[in-house]
Amino acid sequence: MSQSAILETNRKCYVPIPVDVLAPDRAIPFNLYSRSSTGAIKQVCAVGEAVTAQSLRAWEQVGVSVLYVNTTDHRLYQAFAEKMLNELALRPDVPAPQKARIYYQTMRELVHEACASNHIEDLAAGPRDAFANGMVSFICEDGEALSGLLLMLSHDYYTYTHMVNVSVMAAGLAYRVGLREHDRLRDIASGGLLHDTGKTRIDPDILNKTGRLTTEEWETLKTHPGLGLEYLHQRPDLRPTELLIVHQHHEKLDGSGYPLGLVGSEISLEAQMTAVVDVYDALTCQRPYRPALSHEAAIRILREQAGDKLNAELVAAWQETIERARKQGG
Ligand SMILES: [Fe+2]
Ligand SMILES: [Fe+2]
Repeated sequence: MSQSAILETNRKCYVPIPVDVLAPDRAIPFNLYSRSSTGAIKQVCAVGEAVTAQSLRAWEQVGVSVLYVNTTDHRLYQAFAEKMLNELALRPDVPAPQKARIYYQTMRELVHEACASNHIEDLAAGPRDAFANGMVSFICEDGEALSGLLLMLSHDYYTYTHMVNVSVMAAGLAYRVGLREHDRLRDIASGGLLHDTGKTRIDPDILNKTGRLTTEEWETLKTHPGLGLEYLHQRPDLRPTELLIVHQHHEKLDGSGYPLGLVGSEISLEAQMTAVVDVYDALTCQRPYRPALSHEAAIRILREQAGDKLNAELVAAWQETIERARKQGG
């Protein structure tokens, strides 16, 4: 049996990574593979070798946006991606739209893998800060960054996409209302990334149910902020703002939220920001039981909730932020 045939039969052992994360002439600490249209897997770069600018161009020309690493090398890839994300904001050779794409695609893949393998701790370790720090530097240093990031958000219904979307949106909203302190913005971004961690502990049948949830299922779903807190607070490196976002993002100003029914300023400002973008993203994403709502319809719902349930100033600021991005995007 040929080498490629062996690899093809083991196709499920490979995880996709975005080509964009690779920099030209930089040695990689893992074997890298491509997949043909017939599904055959072929090694394109060996551990310790560098991907050339020529290969990157060739992949771009034929529309290859994803390559593969062996699952056993995923941790090596993760450490590599973390380093690349940290350096990315400072790379003058990468144009802003490409940077936005790299942050988003790389992080989606890492969150996806952490959720799929039930190793959310992989995410809570290094990559969350590499992503949050890099993205915040990018937003603060480049005028086009925020709009670029917001425009590329995908609107599928996967939890991992939602977690990355909420991270980008919450950091963007915080920036737009005037927060400039890097560490605070970073904590909002990383808190957004982790906000639904507790959902990885909920039965997928409940999360993906297409019909109406029973009272019992709904009560189970409502435990996810508490489960997330319970899980994450055991980690010594989690910061208070991140934990507040995880625990309070479903609280409502009038006390009708969960899990504690907090009222008004009992809810941290960072959690109030996360709540606004969490609702927006949930409405504008496709669901198994309904198509995505338009931006206009989602904003109408947010405005109905403004004041009683959601912070009205933050809703107005979010509308302005997203509409500015949409205008820039044409
Ligand atoms: Fe949630
Ligand atoms: Fe959420």
